[in-house]
Amino acid sequence: MTRLNRTKMCGEFNAQDIGKEVAICGWIAKYRNLGSLFFADLRDRTGIVQFSISDNAELMEIASTIRNEYVVYVKGTVVSRGTNVNKNIPTGEIEIIANEIEILSVAETTPFVISDDANAGEALRLKYRYLDLRRPSLLNNLLMRDKISKIARDFLANEGFIDVETPILGKSTPEGARDYLVPSRVHPGEFYALPQSPQLFKQLLMIAGVDRYYQIARCFRDEDLRANRQPEFTQIDIEMSFIRDENDVMDVTEDLIKDIFNKAIGYQFDGKFRRMTYKEAMSRYGSDKPDTRFGLELKDISNIVKNSTFAVFANALSIGGVNHGMVQAINAKGFADKMSRKDIDAVGEVVKTFGAKGVAWIALRPDQTSSSFLKYLTDEERDAIYEAMGAETGDVIFVIADKRDVTYKVLGELRLYLANKYNIYDKSIYDVLWITEFPLLEWSDEENRFMSVHHPFTMPYEEDLQYIDTDPERVRSRAYDLVINGQEAGGGSVRIHRRDMQQKMFEVLGLTEDVINARFGYFVDAFRYGAPPHAGLAFGLDRLVMLLTNTDSIKDVIAFPKVQNASCLMSDAPNVVDTKQLDELNINIKTVE
Ligand code: AMO
Repeated sequence: MTRLNRTKMCGEFNAQDIGKEVAICGWIAKYRNLGSLFFADLRDRTGIVQFSISDNAELMEIASTIRNEYVVYVKGTVVSRGTNVNKNIPTGEIEIIANEIEILSVAETTPFVISDDANAGEALRLKYRYLDLRRPSLLNNLLMRDKISKIARDFLANEGFIDVETPILGKSTPEGARDYLVPSRVHPGEFYALPQSPQLFKQLLMIAGVDRYYQIARCFRDEDLRANRQPEFTQIDIEMSFIRDENDVMDVTEDLIKDIFNKAIGYQFDGKFRRMTYKEAMSRYGSDKPDTRFGLELKDISNIVKNSTFAVFANALSIGGVNHGMVQAINAKGFADKMSRKDIDAVGEVVKTFGAKGVAWIALRPDQTSSSFLKYLTDEERDAIYEAMGAETGDVIFVIADKRDVTYKVLGELRLYLANKYNIYDKSIYDVLWITEFPLLEWSDEENRFMSVHHPFTMPYEEDLQYIDTDPERVRSRAYDLVINGQEAGGGSVRIHRRDMQQKMFEVLGLTEDVINARFGYFVDAFRYGAPPHAGLAFGLDRLVMLLTNTDSIKDVIAFPKVQNASCLMSDAPNVVDTKQLDELNINIKTVE
């Protein structure tokens, strides 16, 4: 058996190696056996290199048994490919003429071809994820992930942050998303919860005097999966003490993001990241994570149509209360020649998937103006809409009339749909902005009350507290999100560090002493013993990798991801367990469908 001392990895060879005696290891990506001549591409995580055999009967005999994905060890001489240079691969100027080959392991025919061009279905690829991961694009995503973590660790260490691990088995706090629970054997009937984030622990570390903490932390949330959401994901989690205000955290974390983009992909940002208040983001883009690479901004035309007899508008505007009705519109500039009548009708269906009942529209085509509703409006109302929307021939205007949060959500989503379907913006730039001044409380139609937007430990703007009873929506919090290309890449806040303020917040949220004690008494207690002013933030590591690799699916940046129904197709988790295990845990299963 040969000792495996390979010279270097497959993808690292170039013309400077010509003439050298080398050894390589890897998987057979492709081979051709021409009888007296044999060529193969050998693959490892760095790329491929070609080796060949000629005029060597002994080696040809071994080679004749080689198939795709066999694992082999090859020794040989690097030679120039002469006129047969392959410009498509970095090692294309050379090949290795083998003088020794050892088959380290044979492979059955794989369930799909290992290639970025192969179009195997996702379910099959995830079942054999270890084969899927042999594909260069997925391996590159893992390499990028590693690179980003490394850059973040170096950067944060330099800034005086220390890496501290926090528990995975913790206490359930019925806030935020649903918890994943772990039954305790020793305490029958009791459960640990997996952390949704290390939030409370990192704040306790500030009280402990750790001063600056970070952790590349795994988080668990039992919530619906989306293209950028997994039930277990990773945060670059940060907390720092003795801050003056939110700017201290925002400045450090902004520099971290710039360092990551620069060192990972050589992308440089000019100047400071833009900042936009939550209020402005919502009113202009209908979203607290706006993609501002394109316009299609929302305009509130409620006032213009407030006396309209058009039932759709009148009905919406008759809805009162916190979540009152509104009529809002976007002008798809120059879309008239991109959108047929059929395309406009399709928008009517698309908006239903966003939660609207339908869409009203005006198409200002050069030959004629058509509309689903103008006939119900006066000429003055029509002209006022045109003026408000800056409408010109060639434009298409879409209008949504509904409860306030529905109009924002639907038009916010419609912007993205139109911009992507009609490809109206430059996808090669990174659009980064901070969203600030989030409301402290948000109205819940479901609960019929105001609830904490972040968590109950988020610092409000003290000057706004006077409105807490009369106009709760007006109270802003010192919370901030970093939005990149319309994705929430990270978020955090200044925390409350004084007991009197914390007590006040609990009152506002209607949390009684008993509830507080039962849920996070230990945490509130800690603030009796001297808490420094502190603030923090967490970036979604998976989302950063997606952005830096231009990947649409979070599954492509996680080695072993879960699918839509939160199962792992490779290992079949979650699974039924032995009765013995359940007995030990004192658990009876009610029903299994
Ligand atoms: P938050 O809940 O906003 O804040 O999470 C921080 C960041 O984590 C990412 N993220 C996710 N990524 C993938 N899948 C998910 N299911 C998922 N959920 C969140 C997002 C998000 O911006 N403790 C606070 C942070 C703080 O206040 O310091 C927290 O967890 O990119």
